[in-house]
Amino acid sequence: MANIIDGKAVSAKVKEQVRIETEALIAKHGIQPGLAVVIVGNDPASRVYVNNKKKACEAVGFKSFEYALPEETTQEELLELVETLNNDKNVNGILVQLPVPKQIDDKAIINAISAEKDVDAFHPENVGRIMIGDYSFLPCTPAGAMELIDSTGVDVAGKNCVVIGRSNIVGKPMAMLLLHRSGTVTICHSRTQNLAEVTRQADILVAAVGKANFVTGDMVKEGAVVIDVGINRLDNGKLCGDVNYAEVEPKASWITPVPGGVGPMTIAMLMRNTLTAAKAQNGIHE
Ligand code: GUN
Repeated sequence: MANIIDGKAVSAKVKEQVRIETEALIAKHGIQPGLAVVIVGNDPASRVYVNNKKKACEAVGFKSFEYALPEETTQEELLELVETLNNDKNVNGILVQLPVPKQIDDKAIINAISAEKDVDAFHPENVGRIMIGDYSFLPCTPAGAMELIDSTGVDVAGKNCVVIGRSNIVGKPMAMLLLHRSGTVTICHSRTQNLAEVTRQADILVAAVGKANFVTGDMVKEGAVVIDVGINRLDNGKLCGDVNYAEVEPKASWITPVPGGVGPMTIAMLMRNTLTAAKAQNGIHE
């Protein structure tokens, strides 16, 4: 029987900490952090994420600015908005919700966001900083997953850590964070041979594949910490992770549920990044 990692509780703690620090920042320095969220088009899932980000901003005491642009927005128009936000002192963090419509090159947009305001940590400068361990922002999902690992009290140092998935947003930075904590890290992907043999070595297993119930019981070592980053919608409308929970839960020592695991952490870490950005842009190091 695994201990369940309660992402809602951990995220509530992170947000409460951000709220307290924000209150102090306003009281002491008159600075209220601001997050600009840009959404292009009508993707319903993106709409839900953006609404949740706005609500979280209100809850922690940030200003939030929303820009909802039509589906047919051109790359030039979006770049122009990014430039305006880069120069707006009230905006400390900029997030362009991905995916963007196909006429827009998402790399060009990410590169245009000022690195100091890139609270997603997607800009190449921030990605490079993560590589060398000299960063101010971490991408929200891996940062949230790391926070959940920390909440278990399990020390990563020396552990076999296996990350399934090599995306720029989750798999690669997750592996780097585990390495910074002195884990022995393996990244698996669609071309990995004998996947189950590799994942069975994991003391800490992070699944970021995007396939429902991909990680089965036989792939998991007895006593492993299992972090499920997947959010997949089944035909019956239910959400389900990358981990077959029913099979894996009896073997794991700790496991994240879906929903209620990594998901709620992402927004909490976005709030933290925005606070960090606001402090850094105002030369406050406390
Ligand atoms: N779309 C899905 N997740 C994310 C995220 O973390 N950041 C951005 N910008 N877009 C996303």
